[in-house]
Amino acid sequence: MSPSPDSPRPLLDADELAAIARRLGGEIRRDYPDGVVMVALLKGSVFFLADLVRELPVRCELDFLALSAYGDGRTRVRVVKDLDIEVAGRDVIVVLDIVDTGLTLAYLLRMIALRGARSTVACALLDRQSRRLLPVEIRYVGHVISNEHVVGYGLDLDERYRNLSGLQIPDPADLAGEPTAMFERLARR
Ligand code: IMP
Ligand code: MG
Repeated sequence: MSPSPDSPRPLLDADELAAIARRLGGEIRRDYPDGVVMVALLKGSVFFLADLVRELPVRCELDFLALSAYGDGRTRVRVVKDLDIEVAGRDVIVVLDIVDTGLTLAYLLRMIALRGARSTVACALLDRQSRRLLPVEIRYVGHVISNEHVVGYGLDLDERYRNLSGLQIPDPADLAGEPTAMFERLARR
């Protein structure tokens, strides 16, 4: 049986992702010649962070944060892995895989500002503007996407598919199907 024409659809391949990291790395390098603290949100942003900072030949410190959603409708977040670096007085860039509703980013920007950072801006690989609930400014945007769920290059669906090298949009039928079969089809692209 041949797959339907749009199943699955590649969104960005490894070369296109590398070009995004190069472009944003160049912008950040120009804006922060004296260095910057890069705070990445686990886990989805780690592949992007790794490519981005290797395009950033300035003094650059890395730190990681992990949040967990809880409560009714999982609408509240708490910190499950906090920063190790003291950000007071520092210039900070928060690195995210994707900004969707904006709730996560708004929380992070407020948290880091409250800790006395000198400046705090956001860098997101993907920006899904159509789903925004809170207005948030993203200084560095890799790529704007529409409504479909995206997997690969760190992004997951129920903790799966982070290890695909490119970004892909799975077919909705795949999402409901057997996960290993879907991985094999996506990985072949
Ligand atoms: P927000 O708080 O709604 O902006 O949520 C952002 C978080 O939701 C991201 O950091 C991702 O972990 C997750 N997320 C949103 N859309 C996708 C997607 O298409 N694929 C994988 N994860 C997603
Ligand atoms: Mg996720």
